[in-house]
Amino acid sequence: MTNAPVKKVPIHLQSSQNRLLIKNGRVVNDDGMEEADVYVEDGIIKQMGRNLIIPGGTRVIDATGKLVMPGGIDPHTHLDLEMMGAKTADDFYTGTKAAVAGGTTTIIDFVLPQRGQSLIEAYSNWREKADNKVCCDYALHMGVTWWSPSVEREMEQLCGEEYGINSFKMFMAYKDAWMLDDYHLYLAMETCKRLGALPQVHAENGDIIARNVEKLLAAGKTDPEGHELSRDEEVEAEAVNRACVIANQANAPLYIVHVMSREALRALDFARARQRQPVYAETLAATVGTDGSHCRNACFRHAAGHVMSPPLRSDPNTPQAMVDALANDCLQLVGSDHCTFHEKDKALGQGDFTKIPNGVNGVEERMAILWQRGVNTGALDPCRFVAATSACAARVFALWPRKGRVAVGSDADLVVWDPRLQRTVSAANHHHALDFNIFEGQSVVGSPQYVIVNGRVCLDDGDLRVAEGYGKFLKTPVFSPYVYGGEAPMPQTPEPYPSSPMPESPSRVTNGTPTNELNIVSKQMAGTALSSGCSTPTGRKMREPGQRDLQNSTFSLSKEMEGADTKTSVRVRNPPGGKSSGLW
Ligand code: URP
Ligand code: ZN
Ligand code: ZN
Repeated sequence: MTNAPVKKVPIHLQSSQNRLLIKNGRVVNDDGMEEADVYVEDGIIKQMGRNLIIPGGTRVIDATGKLVMPGGIDPHTHLDLEMMGAKTADDFYTGTKAAVAGGTTTIIDFVLPQRGQSLIEAYSNWREKADNKVCCDYALHMGVTWWSPSVEREMEQLCGEEYGINSFKMFMAYKDAWMLDDYHLYLAMETCKRLGALPQVHAENGDIIARNVEKLLAAGKTDPEGHELSRDEEVEAEAVNRACVIANQANAPLYIVHVMSREALRALDFARARQRQPVYAETLAATVGTDGSHCRNACFRHAAGHVMSPPLRSDPNTPQAMVDALANDCLQLVGSDHCTFHEKDKALGQGDFTKIPNGVNGVEERMAILWQRGVNTGALDPCRFVAATSACAARVFALWPRKGRVAVGSDADLVVWDPRLQRTVSAANHHHALDFNIFEGQSVVGSPQYVIVNGRVCLDDGDLRVAEGYGKFLKTPVFSPYVYGGEAPMPQTPEPYPSSPMPESPSRVTNGTPTNELNIVSKQMAGTALSSGCSTPTGRKMREPGQRDLQNSTFSLSKEMEGADTKTSVRVRNPPGGKSSGLW
């Protein structure tokens, strides 16, 4: 073997496969928007701005009239999961393929050990199921589904560098399966606090549900509607409050997964006011995009297809309440809880609703549904949309700013979002494995046109071209600065990427005021200013209910649409981590 020096290939002759320029778009981050081109090389954002000097042969995507946003991070999925005697329809290939199709470029799935099973063994199973299948990057939460001193020891191990876990989900429901009692929940939260991890809870009172189930079945109520009847809103709200109390006693931060009801929102508001540590709360695409009336459908398949826990609520005002709660910072994130079961599996609950495997779809639809219900109605502006679908998860689970941000040095996980793309959600055209869709027939305006995963164009002008096993596992470090470090830190260049400044001047755009009567997209196209007024979600404290500190914003979807001479940069007004007075 010779050691002949490798000849340097002139840059214009290097493969252009690894180089991409997204031109003429408007970049949206959670704290502002700017007109900027984005240049990507080897999976990393290398330059941003206008008039960049780019090597020849680079592929160019024209994003005129489009928004360039960080790829979505779905903080809540269940892929390749066995539960309630069935296995999910989606594994890590079909689930992440669908995620990418919808604009999501990172998922965080839950390892759920059996009672008595080693957490490390369950973790290894999950890595085996996922590593060679994922089409995008993924991280893991660990379920604490039983308790013993060995569980505590394994939690500590899992928080180490070797495993990369920084969040643990405890169940207050699923009695006799995954549920922990309050004493063990308290121990688990104390352990999370000691380790710098984030405790998560499924908040429903499992004991009350168990008794209600006995009464309903004894009374002959066996159809899917019985599911919600056994666990009404106060059953969820009580557990939200109790989880907050226990977290406060443990002096621990808290993350409440899948908040599903208005009563739970009220409990959250009430509890958060006295909480010493931050409480983050997530709702779901399902809750924003549909409701529990479907569980009363005469067709068992249809009704059972909507059964999940906590249940979709029959109160028709719930979806709007969830969007409003995202706007006023009562909720911070939107997940999917994608947990799909085929018709034959849902049929296990024919004649006994307690046997219907719990779960619905959403990993593909999450972003479009929130855009439709949140941004198109004027309740959320695109920055808040980015916060809820990407940036907040990145910050909370310590993936930020490598993920969840369009910035030099960040991973090139990007979505070119077409705010005018109309499509109809349907099982006939979705990409996950289920032959059913809880959003069937819904028309949405606004969807991804291009999705770039680590620099690779995986959705190419609507054409899905994912690669099985292309994604990688992301370790999540403990003591997330956002959760444990007081104020959210200023953006920093992620290691080990070359140090480079943040974009010169992202503007801060904040929440829009909900305005039912206006189609916000067309108003924005016409250059109408939005009222705006909420900082990057923090999960720390709330404004008074109903109170918004309104500011005028010059937000619009695109320069082209405005037909005006739009500023290409504006100064930070109030970024996460500090204030600087300036222009907006
Ligand atoms: O119904 C649901 N949510 N299924 C998945 C398990 C869980 O509780 O998240
Ligand atoms: Zn749950
Ligand atoms: Zn779940």
